[in-house]
Amino acid sequence: MTRIVGVSGSLRRGSFNAALLRAAVELAPAGVTIEVGTIRGIPLYDNDVETADGIPPAVAKLKDQFASADGVLLVTPEYNNSIPGVFKNAIDWLSRPSSDARRVFGGRPVAIMGTSPGRFGTLLSQTAWLPVVRTLGMRPWYDIPMYVSNAGQVFDASGALVDAGMRERVAQFMAGFAKFASETNTRA
Ligand SMILES: Cc1cc2nc3c(=O)[nH]c(=O)nc-3n(C[C@H](O)[C@H](O)[C@H](O)COP(=O)(O)O)c2cc1C
Repeated sequence: MTRIVGVSGSLRRGSFNAALLRAAVELAPAGVTIEVGTIRGIPLYDNDVETADGIPPAVAKLKDQFASADGVLLVTPEYNNSIPGVFKNAIDWLSRPSSDARRVFGGRPVAIMGTSPGRFGTLLSQTAWLPVVRTLGMRPWYDIPMYVSNAGQVFDASGALVDAGMRERVAQFMAGFAKFASETNTRA
């Protein structure tokens, strides 16, 4: 059984990226489980808070989910041609304390997908993640690019992925990434 943890980088109730993550869960192949993690409840990073109170519960939970997964799926929106602050803030918290970062991220397979209502489907945001995952020592999987543009058309009003071609692509993406994760993970 291959275990992947997926996280959407949007807190919005009607988030297209959360909808894309749900589609990834639905379309993942047999033998692959995707646990949906959340950035909700993670405070703004403040080193004074960390020093005084330690790691917040929402951060500790997501860290453990990452650490016990064969792979991590980041489903990222794009804000101002880069990573939304709330998502980057969450990953920054997960990298604390630095003595524990290797357990959470080190050698862990990671795939990135994202969707936006515009034409470029989070291309620049996904690119902006690359130095982050490199710094964290993760192993990115690049085989199938997944820039889901025109979110308002490919998802219906309930957030279901209704575009047949995109459903097929998400299924191929999940099969490919799960294979990579099961072959290269370093999970204990
Ligand atoms: C502050 C802000 C900046 C944005 N900048 C971009 C952008 O650079 N490129 C883009 O494609 N969409 C941009 N958008 C639109 C988002 O792609 C859109 O709001 C999308 O629905 C966000 O993802 P979500 O549906 O998962 O919340 C921006 C939205 C906000 C709120």
